[in-house]
Amino acid sequence: DASLMDKIVSLSKRRGFIFQSSEIYGGLANTWDYGPFGVELKNNLKRAWWTSNVHQRDDIYGMDAAILMNPKTWEASGHLQSFADPFVKCPACSNFFKFDKIWDEIWNSDWCRSLVETMEGAKDTAVLIKWAKSKGKDLAPNLSLVKEPAVTISWIAELHHKFAGVNLDFKNFMGRIAASADGVSRIPCPSCGGILPENSMPANLMLETYFGPVRETAQKVYFRPETAQGMFVNFTNILDSRHPKLPFGLAQIGKSFRNEITPGNFIFRTREFEQMEIEYFVRPEESDAKLKEWIEARYQWYIDLGINKDNLRIRPHDKGELAHYAKACSDIEYEFPFGWSELEGVANRADFDLKQHASFSGKDMTYYDDASKQRFYPYIIEPSGGVDRSILAFLVDAYHEDIVRDEKRVVLRFSKALAPVKVAVLPLLRNRPEIVGLAKELSHDLKKDMVAVYDDTGAIGKLYRRQDEVGTLYCVTVDVQSLEDKKVTVRDRDTMQQERVEISQLKTYLLERLK
Ligand code: GAP
Repeated sequence: DASLMDKIVSLSKRRGFIFQSSEIYGGLANTWDYGPFGVELKNNLKRAWWTSNVHQRDDIYGMDAAILMNPKTWEASGHLQSFADPFVKCPACSNFFKFDKIWDEIWNSDWCRSLVETMEGAKDTAVLIKWAKSKGKDLAPNLSLVKEPAVTISWIAELHHKFAGVNLDFKNFMGRIAASADGVSRIPCPSCGGILPENSMPANLMLETYFGPVRETAQKVYFRPETAQGMFVNFTNILDSRHPKLPFGLAQIGKSFRNEITPGNFIFRTREFEQMEIEYFVRPEESDAKLKEWIEARYQWYIDLGINKDNLRIRPHDKGELAHYAKACSDIEYEFPFGWSELEGVANRADFDLKQHASFSGKDMTYYDDASKQRFYPYIIEPSGGVDRSILAFLVDAYHEDIVRDEKRVVLRFSKALAPVKVAVLPLLRNRPEIVGLAKELSHDLKKDMVAVYDDTGAIGKLYRRQDEVGTLYCVTVDVQSLEDKKVTVRDRDTMQQERVEISQLKTYLLERLK
């Protein structure tokens, strides 16, 4: 549902979750600012992660390393050499595409879809062969070798030229991929159908800046592309200061930067983003089992925080997909409105990082095992998630449209832990000073124990709708009767049930439900 993304983007702006960065100047491509409710949501998400991975465990230590590190770090990590995605630029429309994603992009493009529809569902070669047979053409010798859907597409293009008598309406796309007719398989651009160049260019994804005010003599440094390296380089500091025994881990939340070729989909892929990473050091022989444990634990964390199970899956990487450092990896994927995509990667990095840093720094980065009196490099299991990507998943998952008394109600059903506002206090009549005074007094008192807001800028129906769109768990309404019976109305976001509650009991009532 493509329009769901538009609804999320517009609600985010309308209600103060996420704004386009430096919007008054026309923005900066794919950069976003978190507004008042966005920052609460983000802080809640990070707190939930920190609580379950650092505070509630005995074996994980928190860290906050610098973003700018000694550039040797990036030689050792391999980022300066291999942190490059091959990409192609379409000469016709100037769009960039990652080379390894191009077949998917072509296959999912509108023009390709409609081509396939025109072909009566001839999506794979078998169907195509059968279809051609029904038209009296035998394509089996040519097509049996074709596995890639996009190659099938260029074959379809050729077929049209070869069998011009075939009665099909290819008008819309044939012009665009006509060049395939000479038998050379060419790659059509997913956006415009133009022909892409055959060679891809590698692009280094590191953002750079300079240390020192005089450019000529300044040192070139890099914005970290992952928070991970700040933890690896501190491995011996942790051993010396905390004396942990294997298995143990380090955890860190912070900004990372990548010169992405194809940023987009709102906050899904940006050049500046935040990561939540754990580096968990284990004995090499237990690494397979620990990887499995972490995949399960991280999957469950999203569900416990409110993600619907049906929208979450675990996808193990094929060998060819693995990053240069990884021995095995599984992605936790969410079904975004634009399709299943990675939320978090959980990888077995083996001893790659510690060995590399030992070799580049000349320092001993092994672990001394008391029991066996041996030194060795632990393996690293790394659950690495994106804060912004999670925010997008939680926004999408929370978004609901109900029909209430024939009217549409938009509500963000965040879990208790994530909801940016726990309670809103609303005066029923904003021109009655006693009611306004009491409502303000209540909200001030509640603010000492929970995130509470006061709002009197509209009629009650409008105020409720506004709070629903923010995902506020409870609305407390102060009315004329409250002045006499010392009770207020508490409305539940999800059930919309209303209950009269003694003012003296209000905070206990709410705290009880927020647990
Ligand atoms: N240290 C391992 C590592 O960085 P990754 O798969 O490249 O692995 C981990 O990144 C997570 O960081 C991703 O699953 C995603 O949630 C987030 N992430 C990566 N690049 C991102 C980008 N350009 N924009 C937003 N989030 C990103």
